[in-house]
Amino acid sequence: MFKIGDISFDSPIALAPMEDVSNIPFRQICKERGADIVYTEFTNCEALSRNVQQSIDKIQITEEERPVAIQLYGSNGDSLEKAATITELYAPDFIDINCGCWVKKVAGRGDGAGLLRDLGKFEMVVQSVMKGTRLPVTVKTRLGWDDESIVIEDVARMLVDNGVQALTVHCRTRKQGYTGDADWSWLPKIKSVAPDLPLIANGDIVTPEVVKAILDMGCDGAMIGRGAISNPWIFEQTKHFLATGEHLPKPTAGDRIDLCLRHLADDVAYKDCEERRAVTSFRKFYTHYLNGLRDSKRVRVSLMAFEEVAPIRVILLGYKEELSAESESTLV
Ligand SMILES: Cc1cc2nc3c(=O)[nH]c(=O)nc-3n(C[C@H](O)[C@H](O)[C@H](O)COP(=O)(O)O)c2cc1C
Repeated sequence: MFKIGDISFDSPIALAPMEDVSNIPFRQICKERGADIVYTEFTNCEALSRNVQQSIDKIQITEEERPVAIQLYGSNGDSLEKAATITELYAPDFIDINCGCWVKKVAGRGDGAGLLRDLGKFEMVVQSVMKGTRLPVTVKTRLGWDDESIVIEDVARMLVDNGVQALTVHCRTRKQGYTGDADWSWLPKIKSVAPDLPLIANGDIVTPEVVKAILDMGCDGAMIGRGAISNPWIFEQTKHFLATGEHLPKPTAGDRIDLCLRHLADDVAYKDCEERRAVTSFRKFYTHYLNGLRDSKRVRVSLMAFEEVAPIRVILLGYKEELSAESESTLV
């Protein structure tokens, strides 16, 4: 059990912040399926401090998704402070600082995982955000820049000294990007240098068994990213497994198709833009929702041809019927 601000958490399973994925509709879907904490996509503090509309849009939250964190990134002290003050107006339960983004345009200019190369700057970033807000502040980062410079234990100590309320670690280095495996062996080492700092493990957590193993290592919580895109039910599945040692039945093909349609409709309604643009940006989700279903490639290819919800609905409902007729015929 640990607290962030006034909120108590008992082995929470969090939905990871994911740009272009974890917007309000997707956070809502995961929340309904048991996610204990959700995070917004990361928002650039420079843009937010100048009130750029796109950044303001990214930090919108709803009451239903609480507890919810707004995630910021940047490395300019004044902008971070100002962005934190603006963020507080939107009343998240806490602010998370992204110190782990590996992409060149972020890490290369010293933001995100770039901070792992300069712990003095990392500390300034944390202090600047804290100066701008009375909200609790947490940090999400990686192990280090590369295998030769793993600094996560020093980072953990520094965060404790500054009063940061939780640390999430994606157990890879910046250099790894997404290659190789997450190295969870660092988690007990981090816990031993900073036992009172709530530690949320992240990276390659895709099954309830892995969450259990992570918690058994002494972590205070687990955060799931890609595993939730391919399986938004993972939160309730994990909770059931942790409570009973049993697995919930897998979602049916019909469940997957219904959720895909609901996600699409919510996404289009949420994105205040042309339907065509919203539908096009949703295409990345078809693979995940239809993964493992019979003949799904044919259906995915046909969905790609459309830029409006109506024909996509017709195709997916037809496919659902096709699959359910098949499963009934195999039952006879
Ligand atoms: C599409 C995508 C977007 C991401 N955007 C963010 C982000 O905005 N902020 C952040 O801290 N991490 C971001 N990440 C990293 C994830 O939060 C997470 O640390 C990483 O995917 C490892 O966890 P996983 O193996 O459970 O996916 C993103 C990852 C993906 C796949």
